[in-house]
Amino acid sequence: MIVAIDGPSGAGKSTVAKAVAHELGFSCLDTGAMYRAVACKALADGVDLADADALAAIARDARIEFLHQCGEPMPSQVAIDGRDVTAAIRTGDVDRAVSPVSAVPAVREALVAQQQRIGRAGDYVVEGRDIGTAVFPEAAVKVFLTASAEERAHRRVRQNVDRSVGSIDFDEVLADIVRRDELDSSRASSPLRAADDAVLLDSTAMHIEEVIGAICELARAAQADL
Ligand code: DC
Repeated sequence: MIVAIDGPSGAGKSTVAKAVAHELGFSCLDTGAMYRAVACKALADGVDLADADALAAIARDARIEFLHQCGEPMPSQVAIDGRDVTAAIRTGDVDRAVSPVSAVPAVREALVAQQQRIGRAGDYVVEGRDIGTAVFPEAAVKVFLTASAEERAHRRVRQNVDRSVGSIDFDEVLADIVRRDELDSSRASSPLRAADDAVLLDSTAMHIEEVIGAICELARAAQADL
């Protein structure tokens, strides 16, 4: 069974997806981390971000792995071709590079195929931008999670402080969120949009526990229907 959680940057998808997966006993797949890993390798290898063929070659050929820390139920580390990029994929440079990388159709094709392979192997909560529309259009539960741009910027700043990576300047983070929303929503290939049959959840004024509870309830109702 697939629970698809889509939505814009900073809506709380990662935290919510991990908690929902934990509650349901599902695995969790962060597809944004895969686009970030490709962008990170492109920057490290000095690849021109306008070179769609070179970016597609990385997406097709590089080995992306999600690693568990001993005893942890959810993967907390990401590696590409054996290099741990857990912190590197959250830097400002990768934030800026990932939108053009994820707009390349051949990059999406390669990563979507990997995501489908992973998700079909078990029960998964999958989070991203196009999970309910393109990756798993048959998902049993589809949620489109959003929040106001200002609230998302506040959350991202708090997260960056906690992780000690990325910008902690509110105006800079807000501008980046607005720019990325625009790029993600306007790209030709699988733009960010809610699936017609997705449940819309606006978390601006919701407590995170409420969001998690609402999604678990949808998943349990879907399980009962199976
Ligand atoms: O969720 P995130 O911020 O880690 O995602 C990073 C970028 O990857 C974001 O700019 C949009 C893109 N992305 C995408 O195009 N499709 C997905 N399924 C997941 C992320």
